[in-house]
Amino acid sequence: MQDQHRDRVPAAEAETPKKRSVVLGIGGGIAAYKAAELCRALVQRDFSVQVVMTAAAQEFVRPLTFAALTGRKVITGLFSSESSEATLSSAVEHIGVAQEHELLVVAPATAHLLAKFSHGLADDFLTTMYLAFTGPVILAPAMNSNMWLHPATQANLAALQARGHRIVEPGEGFLACGMEGPGRLAEPEEIAQAVSAELNRRRDLEGETVLITAGPTQEPLDPVRFISNRSSGKMGYAMATAAAQRGARVTLISGPVHVPAPRGVIVIPVRTADEMRAKVFENLDRSDIIIKAAAVADFHLTDVPAHKMKKTAARLSVELDPTVDILAELGSRKGDRLLIGFAAETENLEREARRKLETKNCDMVVANLVNGEGTGFDSDQNEISLALRTGEYFSLPRASKRELADRILDEILKLRRALAAPVHGR
Ligand code: CTP
Repeated sequence: MQDQHRDRVPAAEAETPKKRSVVLGIGGGIAAYKAAELCRALVQRDFSVQVVMTAAAQEFVRPLTFAALTGRKVITGLFSSESSEATLSSAVEHIGVAQEHELLVVAPATAHLLAKFSHGLADDFLTTMYLAFTGPVILAPAMNSNMWLHPATQANLAALQARGHRIVEPGEGFLACGMEGPGRLAEPEEIAQAVSAELNRRRDLEGETVLITAGPTQEPLDPVRFISNRSSGKMGYAMATAAAQRGARVTLISGPVHVPAPRGVIVIPVRTADEMRAKVFENLDRSDIIIKAAAVADFHLTDVPAHKMKKTAARLSVELDPTVDILAELGSRKGDRLLIGFAAETENLEREARRKLETKNCDMVVANLVNGEGTGFDSDQNEISLALRTGEYFSLPRASKRELADRILDEILKLRRALAAPVHGR
């Protein structure tokens, strides 16, 4: 049927595939001049680019530069349409632009723009269009280091990442304000590559059901105290966001964390290892891929006292029993599902990753060193190594947890193909 239909398409139309279309939003920062290079890199990749500039951006660079680069009118304000039917068409232009383009990239994304996107404030073309936009969003922030590191900016970034937006992290270096540190706009070529990669990413997890655990568990000692593990849940949440964006049905069983729920993901909150185990096995039958990113507490108090322990003795001893090892139990009951475990280690990374792969019957173990500066736990970045059932072991370059989540998913899909392929010579 499809082929017949294709025959009816006029030859000229069939020969000219539709260009991938991108909105390039430009914020008002010194780095706005670099947006011209980004714009050119996007045009060179044969994308059709619609530039939208904020009022502040126009203080730094003239719209004409971008009009010349793209061959299209640059949108400079909500009511700036040059169309003759001005009022009505310009009043809804932001909706049309949002619907007609596949991807929105904002560079430089200033602290103010990040705050507006994060909170849904819509007072100009770019921010109103952002709210109407349903495709992938890539943000390339640039600002002064202190502004970048400020908890307000970091909270906005976390919210935007949880929404599934990709952040092309700023680099470190000499900034226009005279400071040195993080905040420099990423290189235009890196941002253009992120745009290409996002547009080329297929919905390759469509039809798959992915079960993910994340965060720590808390094991009560009495009604007011508990033991737990250091874990922010960010890696597991990043995995859930990435898998959902690639088309999977995702269930996320989460210990107590302060990370917003990813869009389109079913989140089941739990507290203890026992609760996590119960929810995992309730969901096992309908899962194809299981990713155990949770930092499950290894010990708990079997009989939790009903009342608070009083400080009556100088020294307190509590006898703890091991919690059930959910991953190991999954390993023995997984069937042909793919099982991915995590290993946070302080030493002997490869040996420990390979040992856990074997003893817990996993298909992949994602391992990271937790005593490295700025990696692991609460960071948005991580440095990981993968041990695979095929015997391979390799490290991935340090990157944001969101980027690593996609790399891990790529490797999971590759692994499935490798395991399904017939072994020659047998
Ligand atoms: N895990 C689990 N249930 C537990 C403990 C751990 O499912 N009770 C899972 C974690 O979700 C993680 C993996 O096991 O995917 C590795 O966790 P880790 O604490 O590093 O492993 P342990 O088996 O506790 O190993 P060790 O204490 O020897 O480092």
